[in-house]
Order: sequence, then structure tokens, then C-alpha cells
Amino acid sequence: MQIIAHRGASGDYPENTLLAIEQAIAQGADAIEIDVFAVQGELIVIHDHHLARTTNGSGSIYQYSVEQLMQLDAGHGERIPKLWQILQRLAATGLWLNIELKGDNTVAPLLALLDKAQQELQFDSQRLLISSFNHHLLAELRRHRPELKLGALTASLPLDYAAFAQALQAYSVNCDVSFINQAFVDDAKARGLKVYVYTVDQQDDIARMQHYGVDGIFSNYPARSRQRLTEQN
Ligand code: G3P
Ligand code: MG
Repeated sequence: MQIIAHRGASGDYPENTLLAIEQAIAQGADAIEIDVFAVQGELIVIHDHHLARTTNGSGSIYQYSVEQLMQLDAGHGERIPKLWQILQRLAATGLWLNIELKGDNTVAPLLALLDKAQQELQFDSQRLLISSFNHHLLAELRRHRPELKLGALTASLPLDYAAFAQALQAYSVNCDVSFINQAFVDDAKARGLKVYVYTVDQQDDIARMQHYGVDGIFSNYPARSRQRLTEQN
């Protein structure tokens, strides 16, 4: 079962910052998950479209230029990263990256950035998983780049289980730990989908996810989750 650092090693470091990503790499995570919004056509890494929870700013990200947003303190003196900086940092590592699209204006900037990453960093797009709760964005991406791996996010347990993810031709279904059960995992597997579960930090949840046979868990504490996983095996 893989460990995906949720917003980086966000339990101990400011979420969605280069520091949290550096720490996740150091802690031996298999992958990193980050949240991405587009501001003026540029992809920036932040979870909320309001600034107050994670920075010393206030109001909406859309009220500011990218240059102004880059001046803010995102914790421990860290700046809000651009997605490009994350791709640069991860290019020479063996980790894969889950880019979660927030907002509804992210597809065109992402397509342009992936082309640039391929050309300038030789970043293999197969090391990316693009996910969203907005399945329309995923369908749009699928039309433009059929080879991209897509992660269909759900915070619910639909009546027809993982059928929505199969309809999207997704690579994975990314589920809330509060709802997931064995029937859902079995259904997803039968449809050829990977199953990734967020957010899994507690010992009992880690054990339960392993018992279900999920492929990976999103953890805020990658080193600790790895340790707990090792201990129970
Ligand atoms: O991608 C998994 C998880 O991050 C989805 O929810 O709100 O933490 O972005 P959220
Ligand atoms: Mg997320």
C-alpha cells in the first residue's frame, strides 16, 4: 500500500508548501498530493480559494495578482508555490505527483504547463495523477490528453459504486475514508481502477485500508504512517 503525502507532510509543516514537499520526500513518501487553483492563467498551489486559513493574507485569491500572492507568508516564511516549482523539484526524483484541480479554470493552464514540463524537464506525464471532485474537468482533460492518468474524487458512496470513475475512464477512484467499505473497493477493483483513500493517519484506519486491499493512502504524516504500516505487517 503506497503512502501519498497529503498536501506534502502537512501534519508537521505548512500544507502545500515547498517545505512540506521537501519533508515528504525526506520521510520516504511514494507520492505527493497538492491542490491547485488557476489565477490569471497561472497554476498556484493552495487548498482554499480564501487566503485566511493558510496564509497571512485575507480575501479571495482571485482579488490579487500572482505576484501579490507570492508575497504572502504561507507558514514558516514559506511562499505559496507555483505548480511549476513543484514539477521542477520532483522532476529528478522517483516520486509521482497527484495534482488535485480546484476551481473550474484549470484545464487550459495545466495542458500548457504539462507540455512545458515535458519539453524543459523531461517530466514524464505518466508520473502524474490528475484528480478532481469536478468530474467535468476530468472529462475535458480526457478529451485533450487521453493518455493522462485521472483520479475521480468522491466524498460519497454512490449507489452504483465506482461506475462514475469507469465512465470517466479514470485510472483511480480517490475516496473519503469516512465512507469507503469493502464492497466499494471490490467494485472498483473489478472495474480495473486503483483505489486511493484520504485522509488516513490513524492506526485503525491504516489497518482497515490494508485489509480492504486499497492501493494507497493519503497521509498528513508520511513517516509515521509508513512506520505503522510496517509494524502491522
Ligand atoms: O485528494 C485527496 C484529498 O485531498 C481531497 O480532499 O479537500 O483535502 O483536497 P481535500
Ligand atoms: Mg486535496
